[in-house]
Amino acid sequence: MLDVNKVREDFPFLKSGRIYLDSTATSLTPEPVLEKVLEYYRECRANVGRGIYNAAQAATFAYENARVEVAKLINAKPEEIIFVRNATEAINLVASGLKFHEGDKIVTTILEHHSNYIPWLRVKNTKKLELSVVLSDMEGHLSPSDFAPHIDGHTRLVAVTQTSNVLGVRPPIKEIAKLAHDEGALVLVDGAQSVPHKKVDVKELDCDFLTFSGHKMCGPTGVGALYIKEGLQELIEPLCIGGGSIEDVGLDYFRLRTGPSKYEAGTPPIAEAIGMGAAAKYLLNIGMENIEDHERNLTRRMLQGLINTDGITIFGPKDADKRAGIISFNLKGFNPHDVAVALDTSSGVMVRSGHHCALPLHKHILKSPNGTVRASVYLYNTNEDVDVFLETLQEISRSLA
Ligand code: ALA
Repeated sequence: MLDVNKVREDFPFLKSGRIYLDSTATSLTPEPVLEKVLEYYRECRANVGRGIYNAAQAATFAYENARVEVAKLINAKPEEIIFVRNATEAINLVASGLKFHEGDKIVTTILEHHSNYIPWLRVKNTKKLELSVVLSDMEGHLSPSDFAPHIDGHTRLVAVTQTSNVLGVRPPIKEIAKLAHDEGALVLVDGAQSVPHKKVDVKELDCDFLTFSGHKMCGPTGVGALYIKEGLQELIEPLCIGGGSIEDVGLDYFRLRTGPSKYEAGTPPIAEAIGMGAAAKYLLNIGMENIEDHERNLTRRMLQGLINTDGITIFGPKDADKRAGIISFNLKGFNPHDVAVALDTSSGVMVRSGHHCALPLHKHILKSPNGTVRASVYLYNTNEDVDVFLETLQEISRSLA
């Protein structure tokens, strides 16, 4: 079981007493991660993969060790992990680096964050492909049978989120991957909202690509990871090439390296990657199942309270077992941004409002083009956080009565 009071001691941001319910946008960062970042700056501030002096070797060791820690978090091999800027860059890397042929089809879903939607719209337009969007029901549920009619022998890639950043629903990735692989298609999973919150095992999912960001999993900003299944790197051209990514260069030729360094041209985000490794270790020490259980309990409490609040429309399933700790809602008579401001000014409760970078979902499924209010929980949130949020929301609701 997770000892939330002990966990909270690690997060300096919480000492202010404010209530942070926006971890879906970005998470807070604990001291052990901050220490590891500072340790690099203080003790081995040198470039990686280049110098042979002691500090450079120590920096390279710390950077590569971070890759090992990040790989462990998703049960991958270190060679399958590429450090990038964030999940968005990881998806763009695959979208621009994968060879497509005219007439190829890409399949994605209406649940997607813009980062797993517009890169595919762009390749559809520039490379004359077909883009098929799988629609969910009103609560965001998707079943394998929803995908089946969209996947055929022309499908090159299926790109799907593991957890919706608006509804918290979790499409059945394993079954979708099986359907795709049976037709010879590749599978990219956007793990930005799943990897920080639950046990994710790429072997079990059998996905070909998995993308996630450091800043949503207690790590620093400016770093993320792209998992490419062993053997598939040869299908993906790097986004950038240059220093650090080459095997050989002559007057009129170059040969790229194999392995992660093929994709990590230029000086990488060294401190950030080291911090992401420390974050992976921090989460694994607490236990992903413990984190998931803790969030489920908070989600149950929050859902129950929202159901009992006048004027609330909850989007997504009302059952905490069917969603992650991300709840979007609207309060009748209020613009979502006004609710977010009122929560902050009345009680220091931080939530996100707007379309959460998921406009197609808000327009076509939620029918809420002005957006929603979104509260999300993580390992450092408490029952009291949820209660203050709910009490303040009830006051706001009453203020219009
Ligand atoms: N992707 C982040 C969110 O959903 C920024 O808020």
